[in-house]
Amino acid sequence: MPKRKTQAERVAVVTGGAAGIGLATARRFAREGYRVAVWDVKAGGPEPEGETSFQAVDVTDAAAVEAAVAEVVSRWGRIDVLVNNAGIVRDGLLVKWKDGRKTGEMSDRDFDAVVSVNLKGVFLCTRAVAPTMIAGGGGVILNASSVVGLYGNFGQTNYAATKAGVISMTKTWARELGRYNIRVNAVAPGFIATEMVAAMPEKVLQGMVAHTPLGRMGRPEDIAEAYLWLASDAAAFVHGTVLSVDGGLVVGT
Ligand code: NAI
Repeated sequence: MPKRKTQAERVAVVTGGAAGIGLATARRFAREGYRVAVWDVKAGGPEPEGETSFQAVDVTDAAAVEAAVAEVVSRWGRIDVLVNNAGIVRDGLLVKWKDGRKTGEMSDRDFDAVVSVNLKGVFLCTRAVAPTMIAGGGGVILNASSVVGLYGNFGQTNYAATKAGVISMTKTWARELGRYNIRVNAVAPGFIATEMVAAMPEKVLQGMVAHTPLGRMGRPEDIAEAYLWLASDAAAFVHGTVLSVDGGLVVGT
């Protein structure tokens, strides 16, 4: 058995860690004593608190992701946790219909952009990090799904498909990587107050809150705590699962 690292010696990579849930997660892990590498297309990340580093990485760029892994390994020697959090939305109806004719549709570009970041990005980062984890004796991979990956959503053909796809990849990797002591889980957040949902009409947001038994939107910190727990040894036997962190939104719908 490889010697267990204490949390203070562990290295976590958080994709999309410059804003929203990723930023809260990077901060929370840093506060816990992890060394945290933030990968994002825009600059940011936690204020120097513990050991953190920012790398400009587009998760859709395989070469950039490989280079980023090499940089983290050369700096800190290992990667224990990968939080595949980077994600985007490009919402639109499959088909818009008005006065007996089609007036719009979801574009190929919007479909491909969302698949590229939310699904292929998760694949590229995990594929690049897995060998380092295997060589290091194990690790934890955590993927950002969503409640809409479980039950679909109006106007989110592309996004919901990727979030369901992330669940399938989570379960597949749980089967493939468990033997290497790599745990793989997904988190399905409900509606969390970040820039991603800030663009949604107030009426829609109020509707979501009305369907949430806990009666509020989530905070990025609510999701960060779930990631932290799933990454910890307290969750040592949690594997291949999807943890809903949604204030009960799914049961309230
Ligand atoms: P956000 O929009 O606030 O932050 C996303 C971060 O990802 C940004 O810093 C952005 O620059 C980065 N990013 C985007 N494309 C990237 C790329 N190609 N490479 C690297 N970084 C990239 O989003 P938020 O709300 O914090 O969401 C984080 C994750 O949680 C996403 O995967 C999202 O789908 C998921 N989620 C969010 C929910 C919400 O209500 N906010 C609900 C369910 C899931």
